[in-house]
Amino acid sequence: MKKDELLLFCKRPFWVRSRIALLVALLSIWLIIFSNATTSEDVKKTCNVDKWWKHSIMYEVYPRSFQDSNGDGIGDLKGIISRLDYFTYLGIDAIWLTPVYKSPMKDFGYDIADFVDIDPLFGDLHDFKELVAEAHNRNIKIIMNFVPNHTSREHNWFNMSCQAIDPYKDYYVWKNGKLMNDGKMGPPNNWLGQFGGSAWTWNSQRNQFYYHAFLKELPDLNFENPKVIEEMKKVLRFWLDLGVDGFRIDAVSNLHEDQRFLDELINDEGSISASKDEFNYLKHVYVRHQPKTITTVTEFVNVIRSYEKCPDTIKAIMIEDYNEVQNLMDYYDKSGADFPYNFDFVGADAKQLGGLGTLKLVDTWMKYMIPPKKSIENDHKSNHSVESSHIIDYSKRWPNWVTSNHDRHRFATRSGENMTDAFHMLILLLPGTPTIYYGGELGMTDIDVPSFSQTQDSFALNMGLERYKLYTRDPERAPMQWDSSPNAGFTTSNSPWLPVNPDYVVKNFQTEKDDKMSHLNIFRALVKLRREKEFRDINIGYGAVNKNIFSFVRKNAEGTKGYFIILNLGREPDYYPLEEHSKGLTPANEPLKVLLTTPSYHPNSAISIGNQINLFHSKEIELNQGLMANRNLSASLNNIHNMADGNKGLRLESGQGIVLAWGSDLPDLL
Ligand code: BGC
Repeated sequence: MKKDELLLFCKRPFWVRSRIALLVALLSIWLIIFSNATTSEDVKKTCNVDKWWKHSIMYEVYPRSFQDSNGDGIGDLKGIISRLDYFTYLGIDAIWLTPVYKSPMKDFGYDIADFVDIDPLFGDLHDFKELVAEAHNRNIKIIMNFVPNHTSREHNWFNMSCQAIDPYKDYYVWKNGKLMNDGKMGPPNNWLGQFGGSAWTWNSQRNQFYYHAFLKELPDLNFENPKVIEEMKKVLRFWLDLGVDGFRIDAVSNLHEDQRFLDELINDEGSISASKDEFNYLKHVYVRHQPKTITTVTEFVNVIRSYEKCPDTIKAIMIEDYNEVQNLMDYYDKSGADFPYNFDFVGADAKQLGGLGTLKLVDTWMKYMIPPKKSIENDHKSNHSVESSHIIDYSKRWPNWVTSNHDRHRFATRSGENMTDAFHMLILLLPGTPTIYYGGELGMTDIDVPSFSQTQDSFALNMGLERYKLYTRDPERAPMQWDSSPNAGFTTSNSPWLPVNPDYVVKNFQTEKDDKMSHLNIFRALVKLRREKEFRDINIGYGAVNKNIFSFVRKNAEGTKGYFIILNLGREPDYYPLEEHSKGLTPANEPLKVLLTTPSYHPNSAISIGNQINLFHSKEIELNQGLMANRNLSASLNNIHNMADGNKGLRLESGQGIVLAWGSDLPDLL
């Protein structure tokens, strides 16, 4: 075709329209690609502000047990709303609600029948919106529990899946049975549920087994199916649209299963104490922490992050995974979540911790938080084989401390109630974000294990009469102790869903409020103290530590202001030679002020708030005298000495803790 013919041809309306259409199409494709790229770029970009959750305390509310507003013996959302001022009084700025979604309550809300509705026991969506609004009016954040791993058997998806109706057919983990030697159809493999028994249950509608990592009433969703991931993202968006401030993502290690569905091996260590139907009887190589776990979590995280508007709307994302600390680091480094819970204290034999045990737990976590160059072991050339530091972005890592939750016995029960304040001093003053389980601030302890017939927890019920006491989670879930009226002011019903701890008559919010040295008031003083600048970064100096005593320092970069925290976490009184052990930790020639103490458990102790401790050279230390020597600013494990040797130093009773301080403008705490 000649040039002029061609020109004429392309001016024909049909070709002009086609060209415009093509251009518009290309432009739109480009715009879509560009806008997506911008979105994912935004998601990846970290918002460079000091995130609120780093300096907050996460307060776990177990809604069934917090406050009942309608007299049915079960706590509810209106009850929580009526207690919001309590959080302000405590100085708490974030509450994490365990599940309040629609549920048949086989696992008290963790078995979800509708992810986007509130169970009538707790109220309705209107109440939830009111809770968010009222909390936000008080500058309190609301963290939801996101439970992606499983649904209730009563979820409509499961109903459809049982009937193999698309698209729900593969929403769950379905497998054919295996023909057993006796000719009967058995489960596909030997996998065990975490709450005991086979992890497989036969469904006669579908003629297949379904997998459940926990109870048979909680079928596992199939995260190999991208549609399931999309469904769960919709769930996140629903709550984010209602303005929630973050999520605790639950049972993350159970999200994926090895698709070969091979038998697990017998656990050489666990099988000795566990019987064949107990989870510990097997190793769990194929059902936990699969390679895709982090990828799936990242998908959730990206949805949540897309709701962040830097710098004002920052979300908190916490991960529940009971795992080795080194494995947990992937959540910081790869998933984009804020932190995996540090459950070391939750699992610890608290009565045995003392000073050295506590140091071990603290340092196990801390050495992953700070580049090896700066870590204690590295200072002392010991084996610091953590990770190769050059590829790790340590700025993504932030410590956190948990001592109790709704799944483990309360710390005050496990450690002894006299340890309550000292452990609060520990977890509230260490670098990082502490989580407090409701009532922990009052020193609430477990109730006695209810009889089998009164047992509520389905984990315990599943394990049967012989073993339920070993597994029951009822004792730590008893109602909050508000006052000394019947049932502790928790409910007007005569039958709360779990009995109230009889000690509520003396141990409750109202009585503790009026006692200056109560657990509650010491807790509040610590909340106030941790707002000081010196507590906001990640640095810690370990002081001297022995069998009983743990000590540490938080101070400013210049060392001109700081806090020296000394805790007797052992079972017996001990002595702290302040002279020797303050060397290098606190500045020379400066007296230390007693800023806070736990109540004295020893009649002769003279440590009291406001006292000055002047440090002099002398071997014999008495309070208000003490010693001083050369100081340099290297806190280290070198300070471990046998301090129990002789009656020298500051005497600390078992469970006693003190906060000494130096510098100007020290806060008034009590
Ligand atoms: C929750 C438990 C619950 C389990 C199964 C855990 O992560 O903390 O309370 O029983 O998930 O839903």
